[in-house]
Amino acid sequence: MEFLDVVRRRKTTNGPFLPDPVSEEHQRLLMELAGRAPSQLNSQPWRFVLIEDRQTIETIARISGDSMTEAMSNGTFFERYKPYFRFSAAEMEARRDGMLFDKLPAPLRPFTGQVFTKRGQKVMNTLRVPQTLGEENRKLVAGSPLLLGALLDRTEYRPGELSSFYSVFSLGAALENIWLATVEVGLGIQFVSFPMEVPGQWARIEALLEVPDGLELMAVFRLGYLPPEQRRPAIDWSSHQRKLPSQYVFRGTCRAPQQGWDEPLPTP
Ligand SMILES: Cc1cc2nc3c(=O)[nH]c(=O)nc-3n(C[C@H](O)[C@H](O)[C@H](O)COP(=O)(O)O)c2cc1C
Repeated sequence: MEFLDVVRRRKTTNGPFLPDPVSEEHQRLLMELAGRAPSQLNSQPWRFVLIEDRQTIETIARISGDSMTEAMSNGTFFERYKPYFRFSAAEMEARRDGMLFDKLPAPLRPFTGQVFTKRGQKVMNTLRVPQTLGEENRKLVAGSPLLLGALLDRTEYRPGELSSFYSVFSLGAALENIWLATVEVGLGIQFVSFPMEVPGQWARIEALLEVPDGLELMAVFRLGYLPPEQRRPAIDWSSHQRKLPSQYVFRGTCRAPQQGWDEPLPTP
């Protein structure tokens, strides 16, 4: 695929993957490309753990699903992330960022305006929305043939010091290489971050993966080949909308938005 198409098509997969194992060739390719990322002083602070063991995947899936249910039912999730939730195409068009919840079961639709209120939380809990979503999340993670843990070397990752920023930046670059490579080889990828939202759950995953003291587990992803038709979960969002260049690019100083670039470029 053309490089520019790869970048434009990169996305997050919300739905299920095919059960087929990810070929060793593709796993090697993703790891090789990750290792080609830039890093401060060529420190290469990233480490990766590839997980295919069924039992480990199922345990992480349970931790992820339970974390989602907990963070959603106690309200911490909605409280933390409410600035990013959109419930109409018009709202999304106006803001051009965040997540548009464009697939909701009918009984929930009347309550979208109240989702961030105490009453809305009560309705969601009564309808067992956090449990439904947690179970869907568990199934999605459990049905993934490959999990990928991204770690940082703690000699580079020293929170509070500049090297910490550099190492996180470098890991981001490595992960973007992986993310782009998934497009080329027909894989999907999704962040599994709910266990980070609930105290104690991330430590369970670190223990399971036997992360040594010298490393910090920074992220977990699920990967697998994409089915020809992507089925959407019962509650789903889309986030392909992007800000216009005039909203995030300045010219000369940070007071002057870039003008004249908001029309998409013709594809070369
Ligand atoms: C730091 C970070 C954390 C993220 N956490 C999650 C997550 O927990 N679940 C998820 O499905 N996607 C997660 N994402 C993916 C974003 O939601 C996604 O990149 C964004 O909505 C844009 O959509 P796109 O990747 O399809 O272009 C995360 C991305 C980043 C960079």
